[in-house]
Amino acid sequence: MRKLLNCITLMLVAFGLVMTGAPDAFAKKKKKIPKKPSYVGAVKCNGSCHDPYYQAWVNTPHGKSFASLKAGEKGDAKKAAGLDPEKDYSADPTCLRCHTTGYRQKGGFKPAGSKTKKGKDTSTAIDPEEPNKEQVGCEMCHAAAGGSQFRVVMKNTKGDFKKSDTEKYGMRWDYANVCSRCHMHPQSPHKDEKFDYEASKSMVHDKEKYFSEDNMDQKLEKVEDRAAETAVSQEKPLRIEEWKFKKSGKLKFKKGTRPYSTKKKKVLYKKE
Ligand code: HEC
Ligand code: HEC
Ligand code: HEC
Repeated sequence: MRKLLNCITLMLVAFGLVMTGAPDAFAKKKKKIPKKPSYVGAVKCNGSCHDPYYQAWVNTPHGKSFASLKAGEKGDAKKAAGLDPEKDYSADPTCLRCHTTGYRQKGGFKPAGSKTKKGKDTSTAIDPEEPNKEQVGCEMCHAAAGGSQFRVVMKNTKGDFKKSDTEKYGMRWDYANVCSRCHMHPQSPHKDEKFDYEASKSMVHDKEKYFSEDNMDQKLEKVEDRAAETAVSQEKPLRIEEWKFKKSGKLKFKKGTRPYSTKKKKVLYKKE
């Protein structure tokens, strides 16, 4: 009998604790910001927040950049770059840095054949119906080292955030500069490329025609307020990476060219 009473008391206490804790738990539905930035992939930006951007992006060359690496694709462009049109470049590190999202970086794309030391397959799954990390995704233009952190900031604030709130988590607003991570880059094999930011920026996600009744609630309410704000990276563009590859295919950035330091948790700007 005594045991039973004890048990009931315990249950009542526990119940009481849960109930007093409950309203608090409901109020604080905010998610914790991950400690380090990592790549999450374009699919995470789709499906409730930025669907029209995703749909527009899928239909641009950036949303199809992986296919160009396959044998037999875009033969003329490959010839022009001194490449072999019959060769399959879809696991070639020297191409993947610019043709995919976060190649071999935290959370980023890993090509077929990637393994841990113990032989476990770590290659990124590819779904042809749903372009994701295997393409030049959102994070290659919007993030210094991946969007995992500022994605939580956007969610927690329900879109009501300032540029500065996201900038410290590696969101970048240096749009005219960010393209040069790949376009006209000194390490590009496409030596005769011409690139004009002003002429091409509207094609990156020409989203207007993808808004419908179903996703109208995703129109960004604060976009005008943000446009009036100048982010630090708009005045001081971020560093542009230069790189080399280890034998294992691992990407190594040249000293002083990384746009984000995970150790210092800091965005790094170009030297003036
Ligand atoms: C991570 C590398 C990367 C970044 C950053 C990047 N691009 Fe690209 N871009 C590519 C690749 C790769 C292609 C070719 C895709 C394909 O067809 O295979 C491409 C193709 C294009 C094309 C079509 C081909 C051409 O040159 O006319 C345009 C336009 C373009 N990008 C504009 C932009 C703009 C504007 C930005 C910056 C806001 C930008 N890109 C940032 C990698 C990048
Ligand atoms: C420094 C970044 C960079 C690297 C490295 C790079 N590319 Fe590209 N690639 C681009 C950009 C930017 C474009 C779009 C502009 C252009 O067509 O010149 C592009 C375009 C292409 C296209 C033409 C797509 C089209 O629609 O015409 C092919 C094919 C291609 N790349 C293949 C490759 C292959 C194969 C490699 C590796 C051997 C490679 N690229 C390495 C940035 C890069
Ligand atoms: C090739 C580079 C590039 C890629 C890839 C890209 N964007 Fe953008 N994005 C831009 C540029 C440039 C602007 C600013 C456009 C302008 O000034 O007209 C922008 C603006 C935006 C904005 C408005 C931000 C604000 O508050 O002002 C959102 C939201 C956005 N992009 C989401 C996405 C999503 C989601 C994806 C992936 C599905 C994506 N972007 C892929 C370059 C890119």
